[in-house]
Amino acid sequence: MEKQTLLYEGKAKKVYTTQDPELLIVSYKDDATAFNGLKKGTIQGKGVINNQMSNLLMARLERQGVPTHLVRELSPRDTLVRRVSIVPLEVIVRNLAAGSFSKRYGVEEGTAFEVPALELSYKNDELGDPLLNDDHAVALKLATREELAAIRTYTLQIDRMLQKIWASCGVILVDFKVEFGRLPDGTIVLADEISPDTCRLWDAQTREKLDKDRFRRDMGGVEEAYCQVMERLRNSL
Ligand code: TMP
Repeated sequence: MEKQTLLYEGKAKKVYTTQDPELLIVSYKDDATAFNGLKKGTIQGKGVINNQMSNLLMARLERQGVPTHLVRELSPRDTLVRRVSIVPLEVIVRNLAAGSFSKRYGVEEGTAFEVPALELSYKNDELGDPLLNDDHAVALKLATREELAAIRTYTLQIDRMLQKIWASCGVILVDFKVEFGRLPDGTIVLADEISPDTCRLWDAQTREKLDKDRFRRDMGGVEEAYCQVMERLRNSL
């Protein structure tokens, strides 16, 4: 399968059409942005790590019953995926307080929740991805009630599976963001990526940050952190 025309270029990925109208090629870049594109930079080797990590995790989730867009990895940076129409929601699960939750509600980073907290944002850069609830999503016709129910069930399943995988690597899954898409027949599948760009991953012993927060917060050691979590994941499989 080969790339035809560039369909879309996002902050971290390019998407190409292929000979098959139902399949696309996603190509991961080393470009990194934060704060809705205000901060820009490069994380050397990130594209390769995010591509490979996302594929390893999605293949595992698929085996455990979560449908995904993944077809197969084509090269270190490129993956063949099923074409979906993205549901314009950022679906976030929080197991411990961090980031915007800590800021918004004045809760210390690292405070653990008894049950995971699921949160939705409207995927809209112009508006700065505002927080919304199910009723808002339905009112805005972003998704139906039935789709939101499926998304919630899948996302909580994904959280349980990913927490287990990361725990076996000595890593705490603090929070993460996923996106879903609709296949032509309307079926909801997991899409986009699962990587240190979209998850908060902390060393279980030291609580050292091993994810994109190192870039967002200018902490240094960004490349090393991405390499380290990828190594740990590979060694655990
Ligand atoms: P937040 O605490 O900044 O709201 O982030 C929650 C989670 O979502 C965290 O794991 C990082 C991820 N995330 C993205 O994947 N994309 C984004 O644009 C933002 C703001 C967060």
